[in-house]
Amino acid sequence: MAVSLLLIGMPEMRQSPLVVVANRLPIDDSVAPDGACEWRRSPGGLVSALHPLLRHTPATWIGWAGGTGPAPHLPEVDGVRMHTVPLTTEDLRDHYEGFANATLWPLYHDAVEQPEYHRRWWEAYQRVNQRFAEAAAGVAEPDALVWVQDYHLQLVPGLLRALRPDLRIGFFLHVPFPPPELFMQLPRRAELLRGMLGADLIGFQRPQAAHNFAQLVAKVLDLPATDRRIGVGDRVVRVGAFPVSIDTAEMAALAARPEVTDRARRLRRDLGDPEHVILSVDRMDYTKGIEQRLKAYSELLASGHVKVRDTVLVQVAVPSRERVGQYQILRERVEREVGRINGEFGRVGEPAIHYLTQTFDRAELAALYRVADVMAVTPLRDGMNLVAKEYVAARVDDTGALLLSEFAGAATELSQAFLVNPHDLEGLKQKLLAALRAAPADVAARMRAMREHLHRNDIHAWARSYLSALDKSGSLLTRLGGTD
Ligand code: G6P
Repeated sequence: MAVSLLLIGMPEMRQSPLVVVANRLPIDDSVAPDGACEWRRSPGGLVSALHPLLRHTPATWIGWAGGTGPAPHLPEVDGVRMHTVPLTTEDLRDHYEGFANATLWPLYHDAVEQPEYHRRWWEAYQRVNQRFAEAAAGVAEPDALVWVQDYHLQLVPGLLRALRPDLRIGFFLHVPFPPPELFMQLPRRAELLRGMLGADLIGFQRPQAAHNFAQLVAKVLDLPATDRRIGVGDRVVRVGAFPVSIDTAEMAALAARPEVTDRARRLRRDLGDPEHVILSVDRMDYTKGIEQRLKAYSELLASGHVKVRDTVLVQVAVPSRERVGQYQILRERVEREVGRINGEFGRVGEPAIHYLTQTFDRAELAALYRVADVMAVTPLRDGMNLVAKEYVAARVDDTGALLLSEFAGAATELSQAFLVNPHDLEGLKQKLLAALRAAPADVAARMRAMREHLHRNDIHAWARSYLSALDKSGSLLTRLGGTD
């Protein structure tokens, strides 16, 4: 993780043959021992996926550094130039917290919370998307490949095409794309679809999302559309499912390290050497089904099917989007429920639930995965859920049961998991018990199949398949040095 600081002088507007545009830059700030602010590459995710390609090419990543005010001048990270897009206080409130996370996020996740529609938020969304598009137009060299990410930036492909018709533009949506009945609620639905259609290739996590999109385009814009191709004037926009993944080998290697194995052993001892450890790791988000899971667990404790003496639940819930009202309400409810369950069922030195809201580093997370006999990933709706994939990658000895929601994108691929409908409380309880009581040979056979799948379909395979579909002629990738 080499971080070179380029802090002298003003940022140069050098042009790149490859540009990634995402709401966030792939770096985190931390405080160095001398008190100075340090920037490091964020673990996992898109930056790891693109690393083999980025290594060969002068790429630029355009994104927001968090916070408001003027754009800080950021370091080049692992050879990738960081280009910051600033957000004002109003942009943060109306674009990020508003239209992105209180309109689109709930709408795209089955409206499990009520989406809010405000005209001022839409204006901010347009304004911020325009800023990102202009930044991309400024740093992309002629005929460059520009890859736009996620729901915060759905207008960027169209805005960018208007500014730079020479570019090859890709768009990938990391979250679900909703069925027409829901999407039709959006007051500015036609503009949003048109924005996405500025891309040459639109990637989704699941085939169903591509189908929803094609149906909407035909209905709202009256364009000829199949689940694979859409005619927009004289252009053809291609559409497809490209399920995102993780760096499987990296997680497996980390989990197999002696210090991680040792740490897992100590964690088990610290948890009181129980017979079963159940783990959940979520962002604190109402889509993750945390409350439903706690309710199921509490009922199993009350009925005596699960006993605090021999089973512990470790719930990691990392606070997220904390200024958005729905997230504040959720946190209060989750914490009240954890308190109630611990008060009712815990014993001195033996809480029913170990509740943690801290962010863990990769090694600690790997140790937690290794200690978990059952991993409960039960979102009400989720684009993919990479935690489920990380757990599988970390189970290097083919032990461990994955309890997985049918409504997570990962369920399409990890069909050997204990699949569950998290809205069905009785089903959730039964499936959790089934995962806890499953025969070791059954658990091993399931885990082996899932691990094999993830070794073949890792994040490198994902980036390769998306980018080669985007660059159909192969000329750009050849020029960039391939995705090895
Ligand atoms: C989801 C989105 C990402 C987003 C992440 C964290 O996974 O698809 O685009 O970055 O949540 O949310 P945040 O609001 O903190 O960026």
